[in-house]
Amino acid sequence: MRLKNFPEEVVFDLSDCERAQLTSWAQDVAQENISNPGLYRHGDVLKAVRKLDGPSFDAMRRFAESSNDYGTLLLRNVPIDTSLPPTPHDGRRPDNMPYLSESVGALLGCLLGDIFSYGDEKEGLLIQNICPVFGQENLQENTGSVFLEFHTEDSFHPFPPDYLILMCLRGDRTGQAITATASLGRVIGSLDEEVIETLAGPNYIIRSSSSFGASKYRRRTAIIGDPQQGRGLVFDLNGMEALSDVAEQAMQRLRQALEREAYGICLTPGDAIIIDNNKSCHARTGFRPYYDGRDRWLQRIFISRDFARMQDMLVPGTRMIDPEKSRELVA
Ligand SMILES: [Fe+2]
Repeated sequence: MRLKNFPEEVVFDLSDCERAQLTSWAQDVAQENISNPGLYRHGDVLKAVRKLDGPSFDAMRRFAESSNDYGTLLLRNVPIDTSLPPTPHDGRRPDNMPYLSESVGALLGCLLGDIFSYGDEKEGLLIQNICPVFGQENLQENTGSVFLEFHTEDSFHPFPPDYLILMCLRGDRTGQAITATASLGRVIGSLDEEVIETLAGPNYIIRSSSSFGASKYRRRTAIIGDPQQGRGLVFDLNGMEALSDVAEQAMQRLRQALEREAYGICLTPGDAIIIDNNKSCHARTGFRPYYDGRDRWLQRIFISRDFARMQDMLVPGTRMIDPEKSRELVA
């Protein structure tokens, strides 16, 4: 797969003034653990977000409202902690996690909408830690290090995120781990009518990934939805099964088209890639983990643009979806 560089129009370097605002507000909203869904104070974060002023923040607000052709925005120069603990070997939040990147992650997330988490994944944390985990190299999961196939995030779930942020705290030293995105809008014109028709029918089963533990989500779906209904693309090469040969061929045609029109970057500290999960799928090329505390480390934030719709699903007083309630929906 040959990846193109992201075009200039989707890349925003935070100015010194924008960095200073984020750093200052991050101090104001910092808590011992802002990532804990029971402790997170949304009112404080929202108050700060409303005051963020600058072209990169405006670009994020526009992206949240109307996205873009690439379904992707790349922020650079985002303030993160300069002194980090070792990359967690188990993908869990370190007890001595400093505040800056998590607080900045919450601020950026709230610029786009409402941040939330799933109780059955990553301990329900609002800011999740993405690192290679020993023994899980071959998994098609955020903990693996083999090529992670193109997928939209958590599309098996009744409430997938509308946007996600992947913020880099520590890059892959070998430069091999390329984070890639590809948007449906840029490839649909290259597909035959019959292929589009097959992709738009309920011809696929999508299943949950193992990162959701005992929760088993499974549903029948189309791959291409109605953008007017807010969901354009449901795609997961690894977690999806075609219900006929024709459906399988259509899915492979789409895969080929997406791979031809994929953009990528090896994230370095202070990069934050923002993905429109309704338009774009993402992947990560394979890399070698060393498990020496200096491996690649990202933080991930999920955002909903229709938070009111998931209110009844949340553990009361939190922004975390209650697994028991979401499992009932798919039982
Ligand atoms: Fe993902």
